[in-house]
Amino acid sequence: MKELQYLSTFHLKETGNVNLRRKKVYFPIFLLCAMLMSMVLSGCTFFGSAEPDQREGVASIIGVSQANMREEWRVALIDELRQETEGYEDIQIITADASGDVNKQKQDIDNLIGYGIDLLIISPCDEKELAGKIKEVYDSGIPVIVMDRAVEGFDYTLYIGPDNEVIGQQAGTYVAELLGDKGGKVVELAGRPSSRQGSERLMGFRKILSGYDNIELTRLNVGPESKDAAYDMVISAADVIEESDVVFACNDSMALGVCDAVKTLKLEDKVMIVDCDGFKGADEGIDLVKKGRLKATVSCPIGGKEAIDYALSILGKESGVPKQVILRSNIITADNLAESLEKMEREVVDDGKPIKVGYSQVGSESNWRIANTKSIEAAAKKFNILLHLENADQSQEKQFEAIRMFIEEQVDVIVVSPVVETGWDEVLREAKNAGIPVIMSDRNVTLENREENLTTTYLGADFIEEGRRAMRWVRDNSDSTEGKQSILEIMGNEGASPTVERSKGFREILSENPAYYIKYSDHGDFTYEGGRAVVKKYLESNDWDIDIIFSHNDDMALGAIEELKSHGINPGEDVKIISVDATREAFESMVRKELSCAVECNPIIGDQLMKAVRDLHSGKQMPFRIITEEKIYD
Ligand code: AHR
Repeated sequence: MKELQYLSTFHLKETGNVNLRRKKVYFPIFLLCAMLMSMVLSGCTFFGSAEPDQREGVASIIGVSQANMREEWRVALIDELRQETEGYEDIQIITADASGDVNKQKQDIDNLIGYGIDLLIISPCDEKELAGKIKEVYDSGIPVIVMDRAVEGFDYTLYIGPDNEVIGQQAGTYVAELLGDKGGKVVELAGRPSSRQGSERLMGFRKILSGYDNIELTRLNVGPESKDAAYDMVISAADVIEESDVVFACNDSMALGVCDAVKTLKLEDKVMIVDCDGFKGADEGIDLVKKGRLKATVSCPIGGKEAIDYALSILGKESGVPKQVILRSNIITADNLAESLEKMEREVVDDGKPIKVGYSQVGSESNWRIANTKSIEAAAKKFNILLHLENADQSQEKQFEAIRMFIEEQVDVIVVSPVVETGWDEVLREAKNAGIPVIMSDRNVTLENREENLTTTYLGADFIEEGRRAMRWVRDNSDSTEGKQSILEIMGNEGASPTVERSKGFREILSENPAYYIKYSDHGDFTYEGGRAVVKKYLESNDWDIDIIFSHNDDMALGAIEELKSHGINPGEDVKIISVDATREAFESMVRKELSCAVECNPIIGDQLMKAVRDLHSGKQMPFRIITEEKIYD
């Protein structure tokens, strides 16, 4: 007997992506009896199934493995998946509730596979414990969409989730603005420390508000993140609440408890309440803002809609599916409520007409960049985009000029791959004022005020993860038993996001492995000559005593290899070299056993970018980040 506790079947309507047919699935009586028996035994709320032999007329089956059905937003995810699929035909969805038990979730996945699923959507109970199982499914050829908690590495098809720390930061920024120069007292309600979502939100909230001298933060540990627990806590801490200006709750349930308690204490006109979740429905965040009971809610996108959209693209083998999608969260207040709801509910239609795009490219500093430019030009044709591409030769000034030119030309969308991270606020504000949305491609920017929303989304690699992967490879492929291993780091140009973030990720893993240390680090500006110059400079004042070279890109690694050889040092033998990009030249070098390992940074992002351009132009809410697929080669 199947042990799934919560299992349901419903249909998707016909779409252009998957060849679906309208057909009902009938269940034999004996199967129905078995289901009812199983329901009774497992205590499930609803049970329906599709045995493999019942696939006739069903184009695809999507299995959904949910970590538990206790947390409100997980129930909301299942509801959203239902809503998104209502009216669709000929795709079946089967959901399973793991009740927070890792082993049960593994078993659920096996059961779903037994049902012949074509794609798995999983929200794991524990991302570490389930990484192996997810990899197993992915390696077997069944696409896997991971939701909410990202697993380490890239052994899945797509990850979709919110950034809970950013959600907390958004709430913190709003509260700081609310209190203004006067400042005030803020009470934050903490849930269970084991709730990753709540802890990350609180961390983000604190990160922002701890920077204000005029804001006093008090934390109350509520325990369970429920309405009743929050109510009881506020009542029992009435004296603290009375003194406060703002109460912050991590989710909608707690916020409702706070609203009720503040009403009981007759403090409604004094204490402002802010929360995260922003779910729709009676007494959820949005409703509470509408009723004036909450000052603001930070919406936590659930991702069900995106999961189904991407599932259909994956099943339809469309191009342009990224590796990770970090969903956008928004502050919803009484002032922007109508506009926010309109955005959430807007029907998105792409009319397919040509779109004018101005693209400011960094330069042609590397083989990676050349491949990247080609991919963008080819994809523009495919997606009916009229592309004006300007190459800035690694100059920020030239990029400013290009952006201003695009504004003059009144293009529909501007795309920028910025040479450095900072200094973009003014020119991006000009684009915003001209009503032209901006997408960041390949590299991101750091802006003074995130809430100004000067850019719409970032599409590119996860540079921090690339750095981590490089150091993980070093850790797993070098012998540190013979004493400390010295590392020479060749960085990209100063201030560029891949430079900053690859260094950060590399150091993160390095700090956990004391057998390794960075002996020397310098900038090679992502060029062959630059890499060569870093090694040359090191050898001018040192004998060769380096065990490992970590180069931020292939071109610099290849330059370093040439320089080493000219000094009689054998790359690959005397020193291991790890680089990022994985270009054709890097593979050739690995074949010669000179380069040891290349962490992929995929330059072929044209299709994904142009898909994002079309989505944006047709009015779709863009995620915070769209991360491309990458592997590691040695
Ligand atoms: O921004 C991506 C980086 O820029 C690539 O790793 C590097 O080769 C390029 O110049």
